[in-house]
Amino acid sequence: MKILVTGGLGFIGSHTVVELQNKGFEVVIVDNLSNSSLDVIEGITAITGKKPLFENLDLRDKTRLRAFFEKHQNIIGVIHFAASKAVGESVGNPLLYYENNINALVYLLQELQKKEQAHFIFSSSCTVYGQAEKMPITEDAPVVKAMSPYGNTKQIGEEIIQDVAKVSNINSILLRYFNPIGAHPTAAIGELPLGVPQNLVPFITQTAIGLRQELSVFGNDYPTPDGTAIRDYIHVVDLAKAHVVALERLVHKQNAEKVEVFNLGTGTGSSVLEVIKAFEKVSNTQLPYKIVDRREGDVTQAYADTTKANKVLGWKTESSLEDALASAWKWEQKIRK
Ligand code: NAD
Ligand code: WQD
Repeated sequence: MKILVTGGLGFIGSHTVVELQNKGFEVVIVDNLSNSSLDVIEGITAITGKKPLFENLDLRDKTRLRAFFEKHQNIIGVIHFAASKAVGESVGNPLLYYENNINALVYLLQELQKKEQAHFIFSSSCTVYGQAEKMPITEDAPVVKAMSPYGNTKQIGEEIIQDVAKVSNINSILLRYFNPIGAHPTAAIGELPLGVPQNLVPFITQTAIGLRQELSVFGNDYPTPDGTAIRDYIHVVDLAKAHVVALERLVHKQNAEKVEVFNLGTGTGSSVLEVIKAFEKVSNTQLPYKIVDRREGDVTQAYADTTKANKVLGWKTESSLEDALASAWKWEQKIRK
């Protein structure tokens, strides 16, 4: 069973390729290396004992994408990770985000529409909920106006898939990730942020290793128990496993609707200070940090109601916040050696 993983050399994609290969799927990765490196293939091979097929291809290249699908006619499912994902960059360069995240999706769906049937998993985000009124967040919480062009590409992406599924043989699962963190426990693959990390955990590990002087905690005046913002941090390996289960659901035609939506989180919210404390514990370090103003566009709290994913997919997270932070720390130490 051949599966196309777009963006399969990236953070979440690479961990998903590992889980797919562990389950016996044959994987072909398409990635343009815009935010990843070829070394990731070695990492995946070291963990699984199997080298995935790889094509260096930009999904916006419609002609080459068509040729790719002609060459790999036996692809039965697609997990689509490839996208640009930096929220701040998307505000400064919206057209880059609309072009990359939307065009690539449209061209992929055009190819899949030609098939007798297609199974399509889409990387969406909890960002579609904005500041949800009720915690934990269920899948039927309203999708609110996006705060950034990046967030908007996820909302538009979901709508495109809904529209296309109605008139085609494409069945799809939209996965709304909360905050993926961590690395493979072997430290053979992990997250490779370009430049100064925008996300909390890579900033923490880079500070602990001495690459950054101190962490800025964005705001301690939120209406939360300790005043810092709350998120749902999920171990990337748990997240990766959910993709395999979702794909199997489509392949075995167990889906109840043409397009299904699932939240992927742990169900538990952690504040920034709690994450710092947990990191200090697992790394046996003291993290230098200071409190600064809130970051524009940040929500107060977001954590998932995972009941639907737990019941319908039969999936649940296995790792704790500490496990995830320990794996991120092990990875940081390994790559700086
Ligand atoms: P990532 O940047 O590590 O991986 C994306 C991969 O896609 C990279 O390897 C990049 O080189 C590739 N890529 C980008 N544009 C491409 C194109 N036009 N053609 C071919 N390859 C291309 O990102 P990630 O953290 O692994 O995220 C994967 C997906 O999950 C993205 O769609 C992202 O928006 C979504 N997501 C991520 C998070 C998060 O916090 N990491 C949260 C919610 C949703
Ligand atoms: C987590 C918490 C920050 C950095 C972003 C995107 C979202 C999604 C995941 C893709 C917040 C605080 C952070 C720092 C800090 N991506 N923080 N100091 O903001 O929940 O979501 O990534 O879809 O779309 O917006 O994640 O890791 O940036 O921040 O205090 O240096 O850590 O304020 O409360 P976020 P994050």
